[in-house]
Amino acid sequence: MEDLTPNPKDLDPIETASRDEIEALQFHRMKRSLKHAFENSPFYRNQFIKADVHPEDLKSLRDIAKFPFTVKQDLRDCYPFGMFAVPQSKLVRIHGSSGTTGKPTVVGYTQADIDHWANLIARSIRAAGGRPGDMLHNAYGYGLFTGGLGAHYGAEKLGCTVVPMSGGMTERQVTLIHDFKPRIIMVTPSYMLSILDEFRRQGLDPRQSSLQVGIFGAEPWTNAMRQEIEDAFDMHAVDIYGLSEVMGPGVAQECVETKDGLHVWEDHFYPEIIDPVTGEVLPDGEMGELVFTTLTKEGLPMVRYRTRDLTRLLPGTARSMRRIEKITGRCDDMIILRGVNVFPTQIEEQILKCAGLAPHFQIELTRSGRMDTMTVHVECAEDHAAVDARAISAKELSHHIKSVVGVSTRIEVRDPGGIARSEGKAKRVIDNRPKE
Ligand code: DLL
Repeated sequence: MEDLTPNPKDLDPIETASRDEIEALQFHRMKRSLKHAFENSPFYRNQFIKADVHPEDLKSLRDIAKFPFTVKQDLRDCYPFGMFAVPQSKLVRIHGSSGTTGKPTVVGYTQADIDHWANLIARSIRAAGGRPGDMLHNAYGYGLFTGGLGAHYGAEKLGCTVVPMSGGMTERQVTLIHDFKPRIIMVTPSYMLSILDEFRRQGLDPRQSSLQVGIFGAEPWTNAMRQEIEDAFDMHAVDIYGLSEVMGPGVAQECVETKDGLHVWEDHFYPEIIDPVTGEVLPDGEMGELVFTTLTKEGLPMVRYRTRDLTRLLPGTARSMRRIEKITGRCDDMIILRGVNVFPTQIEEQILKCAGLAPHFQIELTRSGRMDTMTVHVECAEDHAAVDARAISAKELSHHIKSVVGVSTRIEVRDPGGIARSEGKAKRVIDNRPKE
């Protein structure tokens, strides 16, 4: 694969600024942002008064710990527009959460917010190895989900030619990739695997495709999956992170030259890691829940938003801004099986070790009596579909999971295509335990 290290002169100066410069900018922006939230969002004014804090109490960046957290329920309670800090007429766009239950959480952007977002996506695509003039196939869903339009505006801003494909119609995705010859693809990693299957179904060699860079995110995925995709397509696979409440994609981005976790674009977002149980701020390097304070958002400033995502903060490498390690999973997706914490990403890693299995899987939880059981439904690889080959693969996977993750599981090896495919975020866990 080609070395795509960017020319330092193409980077935004702040990407390589000193820590002191970054922190000075963060402090200046944080003060302004807290004041804006306090003065213009009735929700935040109330929150600050209840917690007996005032924007003036921020004397250093670390003082943000004095301010109260914001959680998803707060957005639900303020549905639809109660949390905004500008009049609705100043918003140029609304997006909504991708949650499947209940009402969506609604977020809004001013023109300045959209401009910042486009700039950060442009910066992210460049960090991934994209350049002005590249053709970019965008298979993130367009609509209320922030993936499609978020990526689209940033790709245009960088100067790419965007193919606004959205998710779904997998056969057509492959036809257009084959005919238009994009250099870059943006899509969820699980849907990229469906695209891979479709390449093979059409008799096309994915390694001969024009794709050189994949920018994958919106759901957890592992380094083992990176390897799988990079080998299959002979392309670079890098991680993009974000969430609608904080902006959308482009809050943090992995650099193609290092692939060692995602640089948080700290000039716009201040990250903290907290203990998810006590709420206490943890030092860099320790694993916990990621929390963000936005530094430039006008429409919907966020103060200490609890993402529910688990990771740790690491020092900068390719850029001076700090990194987050690849997200292990969400607190909500953690399965506690007979006292052991299990994340779907741990199961993914073990599946990818088994040559007889394809990387499509779902975890089903059931209960008989007091016993919870975890069944991993996974597909066999095309060339390992015989009954005895499947039995060997099942045994191998169960052994890996037991010895690395520490739990006993049932393994069901299905036919190729036997696991439901998603066109966006994959649903990894099906909880069939009786509701308590
Ligand atoms: O998923 C925004 C996005 C779109 C990010 C396209 C990247 C690419 P939401 O629908 O609000 O926004 O979901 C946000 O998705 O809190 C994480 O749990 C998860 N997530 C997003 N990116 C990653 C990633 C978009 N790279 C939620 N790795 C977040 C792991 C991710 N999880």
